[in-house]
Amino acid sequence: MANEWFETVAIAQKRAKKRLPRSVYGALIAGAEAGVSMNDNLQAFNELGLRPVTAGQSPERAMDTTIMGQPASMPVMISPTGVQAVHPDGEEAVARGSAARGIPMGLSSFGSKPIESVIQGNPQLFFQIYWAGDLDSMIGRMERARAAGAVGMILTLDWSFSHGRDWGSPEIPQSIDLKTAMKHAPDVLTRPAWLKDWVRSGALPQLGVPNFGPKDAPAPGFFEAYGTWMGTPPPTWEDVARLVEAWGGPFMVKGVGRPDEARRAVDAGATAISVSNHGGNNIDSSPAPIRVLPEIVDAVGADIEVLLDGGVRRGSDVVKALALGARGVLIGRAYLWGLAANGQAGVENVLDILRNGIDSTLLGLGKSSIADLSPDDVIIPDGFCPPRL
Ligand SMILES: Cc1cc2nc3c(=O)[nH]c(=O)nc-3n(C[C@H](O)[C@H](O)[C@H](O)COP(=O)(O)O)c2cc1C
Repeated sequence: MANEWFETVAIAQKRAKKRLPRSVYGALIAGAEAGVSMNDNLQAFNELGLRPVTAGQSPERAMDTTIMGQPASMPVMISPTGVQAVHPDGEEAVARGSAARGIPMGLSSFGSKPIESVIQGNPQLFFQIYWAGDLDSMIGRMERARAAGAVGMILTLDWSFSHGRDWGSPEIPQSIDLKTAMKHAPDVLTRPAWLKDWVRSGALPQLGVPNFGPKDAPAPGFFEAYGTWMGTPPPTWEDVARLVEAWGGPFMVKGVGRPDEARRAVDAGATAISVSNHGGNNIDSSPAPIRVLPEIVDAVGADIEVLLDGGVRRGSDVVKALALGARGVLIGRAYLWGLAANGQAGVENVLDILRNGIDSTLLGLGKSSIADLSPDDVIIPDGFCPPRL
């Protein structure tokens, strides 16, 4: 068998592109409108320089931390994503892979596997919900997660139902019956490795969302759940506070991009925020999270755990985010490329790439611990951050 190991996340992405049907690959690329934010998430990390030292480096480097009370072997956690059709093991493989590497995981309420099975793979599981349906149904989702043993809640708020993409959106069927199988055959038959994985698993990709409804009810379809979400009036900050109170434990508000809103999340009682633009899937032209991170850390860094997600592909990206004040980062597409390329082993491969990259960046910067990082380690070009609010 060919060596499935890859040395960078970019190579995992190339393998994923070769292996996945075009529509599935396109769903992971995603992005909104012109892709300005999606591209900026990557570009912004490249604009930041680092200041290496030449001698006197530390022979050992520490990178373990905690994220919302959970021990993490490095300042990274799995961001929630729906991974339907990427791999038959889906979130269960991601859970086992992240647990094997000692980091917590976020599981999406639009994920493809039930929380009760995913948590067997990684008990350090945060459940993610959207503001979808009435308050009772949202609390119902949280209570199901509590009963399953979730260690915390993530409420994702940065979604604007912007559906057009200049490169076109992939056509995604609700489920695969004979008719849709025939229709997608040309796309799927050119991807024998992906097809073989599914045939071996004895199942066909389904677009069900088993965590959206009660535990023992049939899983609603993706589009049905999406319709519920789309029809739900957006929350106020008082609504958010109600949900934080109902959960009564570690609670992240994901999708914050402004210091004034970060303050509202603090006031609502959240434990953490993730500075994010949903991987460039919210309104296009929202800046890369790393550009607004310093302003947000200045505003609330002493009062709440500030995390960041969007564009993290290398250990040096993690170090840059930490140097600018983040406690840790969440990764999305990076582990999805690993999962697509090589299942659980691919997820572990991506996490090893990040760990090694964090370690070599700390070595190069002459740091013995992530705790020693500061903005002085990073070269921020003029105009990198937007004007402060
Ligand atoms: C295919 C895909 C599905 C996603 N699904 C969700 C989701 O269900 N819930 C959520 O909070 N965020 C979701 N996100 C956003 C990620 O959690 C995360 O914010 C984003 O991927 C970070 O950017 P990155 O992919 O550059 O790491 C999704 C992102 C992608 C690419």
